[in-house]
Amino acid sequence: MKKIQFFDTTLRDGEQTPGVNFNTKEKVQIAKQLEKWGIDTIEAGFPIASVGDFEAVKAIAENVETMTVAGLARCQKADIDRAYEALQHAKHPQIHVFLATSPVHMEYKLKMTPEEVIASIKEHVSYAKTKFEKVQFSPEDATRTEKNFLLKAVQTAIDAGATIINVPDTVGYSNPTEYGALFKFLIDNIQSEQEIIFSSHCHDDLGMATANALAAIENGARRVEGTVNGIGERAGNTALEEVALALYIRKDFYQSESSITLNETKRTSDLVSRLSGVAVPRNKAIIGANAYAHESGIHQDGVLKNPDTYEIITPSLVGVNENSLPLGKLSGRHAFAAKMETLGYQLNDEELKDAFKRFKSLADKKKQVTEDDLIALMVGQSQECNETYRLGCVQLQYVSDGSQGAIVSIDTGEETKTESAIGSGSIQAIYNSIDKILGQKPELKEYYIKAVTGGEDAQAEVHVTLADTENNRQFNGIGIDFDVLQASAKAYVKASEQFQKEVGKA
Ligand code: KIV
Ligand code: ZN
Repeated sequence: MKKIQFFDTTLRDGEQTPGVNFNTKEKVQIAKQLEKWGIDTIEAGFPIASVGDFEAVKAIAENVETMTVAGLARCQKADIDRAYEALQHAKHPQIHVFLATSPVHMEYKLKMTPEEVIASIKEHVSYAKTKFEKVQFSPEDATRTEKNFLLKAVQTAIDAGATIINVPDTVGYSNPTEYGALFKFLIDNIQSEQEIIFSSHCHDDLGMATANALAAIENGARRVEGTVNGIGERAGNTALEEVALALYIRKDFYQSESSITLNETKRTSDLVSRLSGVAVPRNKAIIGANAYAHESGIHQDGVLKNPDTYEIITPSLVGVNENSLPLGKLSGRHAFAAKMETLGYQLNDEELKDAFKRFKSLADKKKQVTEDDLIALMVGQSQECNETYRLGCVQLQYVSDGSQGAIVSIDTGEETKTESAIGSGSIQAIYNSIDKILGQKPELKEYYIKAVTGGEDAQAEVHVTLADTENNRQFNGIGIDFDVLQASAKAYVKASEQFQKEVGKA
């Protein structure tokens, strides 16, 4: 069996999904869950991109134990220095240096000649090697790069000290036959005295990101890069859960294994979905709500007689419908603390006290508090700790002309502001009031509600996406509450917080 290393870039490429903005606390929480899931290397961010990115990479480096922590850098000394600074306290640091090598990128984006690109790779990979033992190099847009030039770029990086070569299909242009052949070509033709690990990095523009990654593995790649739930720039990246399951279920074919703890898959997916605000489509492989649902009578009959008839993955293998005992209002602090620990939360005394109080108030309203409820509860707690705007009262009034009126107050950190507005429905009235308080006029791009769990006493989870049409930017927010209107208001305030930070008042 070959060991395939998993490199997760949910917090870097995944955060490039429109509307996704994780704060540092959320990033650390995701990083810890990724470690539990069995990820070998996490790309924690792009340290030079912003102070926030730098702080998050640093915090992750200080908080994880076994995972290698990587930081992204362009071929620029300042980028490499900043990554070095952010990763100083990582137990296992790694740098990921990249430079585009395709004709279109070199000519129009970089405005560099091929010779200048080769010289820059040599200079900057060598420089990175003076600071990091593990240096990864990516020739960006590799799949649209002339093959012999790509080989030259890769060989230059290896000669300068890179031991990991990542081959990005940056624009999702390749297909399995072509991408696999590219790995074979590079692996057969590079020269190196030491072992070089080849890695796949695929985007899903043509829906082939997972197939391409698996083709790379068939052709010698020993590492796969991707994100949880496949989130990422445009159509997203390779969904790591899909690769992990494909390797496991079809080990007869791939003859490969990974360190992924499969029954942590659903939990990891749920956490990323909640914190990113990006919902998982119902029909998504492995973790979608319908992935284990059998609708037709013939299928149901077959599965009842023998699940093997139509089920190649048992739901419990990936942690779906695990038979875990729900908590209730009689559950004590110890049971609660133990459950939080199994869910991957390491809470200090203060956090535990606050979480337990929230749990008790939830258990008063809900017969059974499931794992999903607890994760939702923690999302709420983490949002409140990091929020700039705190939602106060939300009051609704029916207006005689058939429209709705709302009065909303928000604590902005400096003062508590209250405004009222009308709308053709309750939600519009609430959102108009919030816009008035914050002096903004974003476009409401998306709004949807889902229930955190099944049952009549389920909490509502509302997702909101606001857009700044002028700059083509989006901001997600989620709100969880028993009351749909309250959850809707929370989600809008959360997305507005990001909107205000990045775009400012209208
Ligand atoms: O898609 C891409 O080319 C990237 C690189 C930075 C590796 O994300
Ligand atoms: Zn990418």
